[in-house]
Amino acid sequence: MFIFFVLLILQIENEYGNVMGPYGESGKSYIKWCANMAQSLDVGVPWIMCQQNDAPQPMLNTCNNFYCDNFVPNNSNTPKMWTENWTGWFKQWGGKNPHRTTEDVAFSVARFFQRGGTFNNYYMYHGGTNFDRTAGGPYITTSYDYDAPLDEYGKFKVYSYLKIFYKFLFLLTWENLLSNLNQPKYGHLKQLHDVLHSMERILTYGNISTIDFGNSASATIYKTEEGSSCFFGNGNETSDATISFQGESYVVPAWSVTILPDCKNEAYNTAKITTQTSMMVKKPNDTEDTPSTLKWSWRPESMDNFLLKGKGESTQTQLFDQKVVTNDQSDYLWYMTTVKFKKRDPISGKIMSLRVNSTAHVLHAFVNGKHIGNQHAENGKFNYVFEKDVKFKSGRNVIALLSITVGLANYGAFFESKPAGITGPIFITGRNGNETIVKDLSAHKWSYKTGLNGVKNQLFRTESMSKWSVEGVPFNRTMTWYKATFKAPLGNDPVVVDLMGLGKGTAWVNGNNIGCYWPAFISSENGCDAKCNYRGAYHAEKCLTNCGEPTQRWYHVPCSFLNAEGDNTLVLFEEMGGNPSLVSFQTTRGGSVCANVYEKKIIELSCDRKPISAIKFASFGNPDGNCGSFEKGTCESSKNTVDILTQECVGKEKCSIDVSTEKFGAPDCSGATRRLAVEAIC
Ligand SMILES: *[C@@H]1O[C@H](CO)[C@@H](O)[C@H](O)[C@H]1NC(C)=O
Ligand SMILES: *[C@@H]1O[C@H](CO)[C@@H](O)[C@H](O)[C@H]1NC(C)=O
Ligand SMILES: *[C@@H]1O[C@H](CO)[C@@H](O)[C@H](O)[C@H]1NC(C)=O
Ligand SMILES: *[C@@H]1O[C@H](CO)[C@@H](O)[C@H](O)[C@H]1NC(C)=O
Ligand SMILES: *[C@@H]1O[C@H](CO)[C@@H](O)[C@H](O)[C@H]1NC(C)=O
Ligand SMILES: *[C@@H]1O[C@H](CO)[C@@H](O)[C@H](O)[C@H]1NC(C)=O
Ligand SMILES: *[C@@H]1O[C@H](CO)[C@@H](O)[C@H](O)[C@H]1NC(C)=O
Ligand SMILES: *[C@@H]1O[C@H](CO)[C@@H](O)[C@H](O)[C@H]1NC(C)=O
Repeated sequence: MFIFFVLLILQIENEYGNVMGPYGESGKSYIKWCANMAQSLDVGVPWIMCQQNDAPQPMLNTCNNFYCDNFVPNNSNTPKMWTENWTGWFKQWGGKNPHRTTEDVAFSVARFFQRGGTFNNYYMYHGGTNFDRTAGGPYITTSYDYDAPLDEYGKFKVYSYLKIFYKFLFLLTWENLLSNLNQPKYGHLKQLHDVLHSMERILTYGNISTIDFGNSASATIYKTEEGSSCFFGNGNETSDATISFQGESYVVPAWSVTILPDCKNEAYNTAKITTQTSMMVKKPNDTEDTPSTLKWSWRPESMDNFLLKGKGESTQTQLFDQKVVTNDQSDYLWYMTTVKFKKRDPISGKIMSLRVNSTAHVLHAFVNGKHIGNQHAENGKFNYVFEKDVKFKSGRNVIALLSITVGLANYGAFFESKPAGITGPIFITGRNGNETIVKDLSAHKWSYKTGLNGVKNQLFRTESMSKWSVEGVPFNRTMTWYKATFKAPLGNDPVVVDLMGLGKGTAWVNGNNIGCYWPAFISSENGCDAKCNYRGAYHAEKCLTNCGEPTQRWYHVPCSFLNAEGDNTLVLFEEMGGNPSLVSFQTTRGGSVCANVYEKKIIELSCDRKPISAIKFASFGNPDGNCGSFEKGTCESSKNTVDILTQECVGKEKCSIDVSTEKFGAPDCSGATRRLAVEAIC
């Protein structure tokens, strides 16, 4: 494959304007320094600064947001540019799946162009995966799918940091090679950009006039000598608008924009989707050669040696921030100290409490080699207190605390100084009668050890010579390595590994680190919105799914990590304890496809080179719900819509449906535009 880049524009800094306040005057002079330095390179293309209202000339300031139609560049002679059009949102451990509806993304873009916008970039256009230790954070999951028009999965390895390139790539032609299309988002936006592209000249050179119809409805007319193009916008969240323009009348649904390239015929409306929705499913492909159940071997992480001695690689009489010690070489850092109790010490042999103030994302505590518990930070709240009753023996006791990071802070003012690890204080408290005895261990001698022994010994490598045991494969055991060989699933569909049943850890396929996994982290039950309404401003808490489920259960295994023939090796390091018997390799593919289309439109249904096997739901009228959960509405055609569609579509790889009243009848829906909803099984 041959890829070349044309340099159109360059960016310096990123969203510094959002965080510069606390830096005061030095922030301002830093921005000037950036601008001067960039300009001095004399590269011959314009420079932009995203979210930087005071960008020094000639830097172009640009907007990053869900909506940028109200954005005004600092210099009114420069183009209005939207450098990050957020097509979705990222997912965090403990959180749910974010969805930004297609209608709303399209609305935001069309409205941006209606109001004089000239340049739009999506963030993200292609979802990615945070393989290895590339997740940012804290707490951003291994998946960085972002509900983007092209999903995370694909034949090739797309790191999420490819977003840097995608930020400046428009429509890719080789995208189908890479990923599944997130439909209808991909198709609906493609249609939008086809229409906008056909209007390129007039949008660039036309004179703009606007008519305000009240109730948030407006028309914008772009005009040149050659003709005019119109946008009819309706920003009202609840009411459809009827716009009368040059003797014709147009219904513009709530929260939508209609585009009429000739100011007469509706070519596109952001709320009227004529692209099918594809619901992807993940399933094992069991055959005799490739059974999806795996045979496991295991071995413990070797720790006894240092856990009992409390000796690491360096010693300090202070608790250090994790980053300072690990230099970001590992997510794992051991903090170890020894405590002595004399026989005649009144609290010797009694139950005491170990209290650790921690900013470790995950903390495991061991006393004298024994795991006494673990705790993780709640998302967004990284200070907590770990407290556990412990019986210390008289003599020497070793306390070992394993601090684990899940991505380091990478945004905000002074993010580099946000704490990570065990920052203390650390106390042991005990009672002697009515007396409370407190020992502060914070300034004890602490011994540090970075990383896991298993990683140092490269247990994840296929050719690793270490001994693994097939006997007594344990469940629910902390700090355990598991290994299995498997055959790659057949066929061309993208491969995922289902890690349901495991706790938290890291997974490798043929020595490639596929990222941190944490299926034991279940999102809360509340806050999901099955009947997600695209109307009204989007925010990251809207239209969530996956309530009460593991935040991330499936992990992307690019084909480039797999041997199509022969054996493959999966290695897991499980730190909390889990059950590997449920782990299986699966493929993602279209499960069903849906349409939800207004009358007078045509829609094509296709199962992507597989025949459509059945029509599960069909209704013409005002059906309710979304793909997978359609229900008939208050009006419905008396014709047998399922039969009509079964004849047209079942057994075919694709079918084109003309949504007309001749075909489907004319139910009385009190004057509202009728829609056809279909769910077909692949
Ligand atoms: C635009 O940037 C210049 C240079 O920093 C500044 O003087 C001016 O106030 C800015 N204008 C606006 C509208 O922010
Ligand atoms: C932002 O993305 C949406 C959805 O892809 C698109 O419809 C819209 O045109 C984009 N915005 C701009 C300004 O291009
Ligand atoms: C939306 O329309 C309703 C009904 O016509 C009206 O009461 C409301 O003020 C409108 N809202 C906006 C923001 O225009
Ligand atoms: C825009 O309006 C100005 C002033 O009325 C006029 O001189 C110019 O020719 C117009 N441009 C176009 C492309 O119609
Ligand atoms: C330790 O945690 C306790 C309980 O949350 C809190 O009251 C105390 O201020 C914390 N100490 C430090 C130094 O953060
Ligand atoms: C503990 O209780 C005893 C008897 O009730 C009392 O004499 C003593 O002063 C108490 N000690 C402290 C430290 O409060
Ligand atoms: C593993 O732990 C879970 C949760 O504590 C428990 O429900 C399950 O029974 C345990 N399984 C085994 C095999 O011990
Ligand atoms: C499942 O395996 C068969 C071969 O046994 C293969 O032909 C087919 O494409 C596979 N299906 C999928 C969905 O991967």
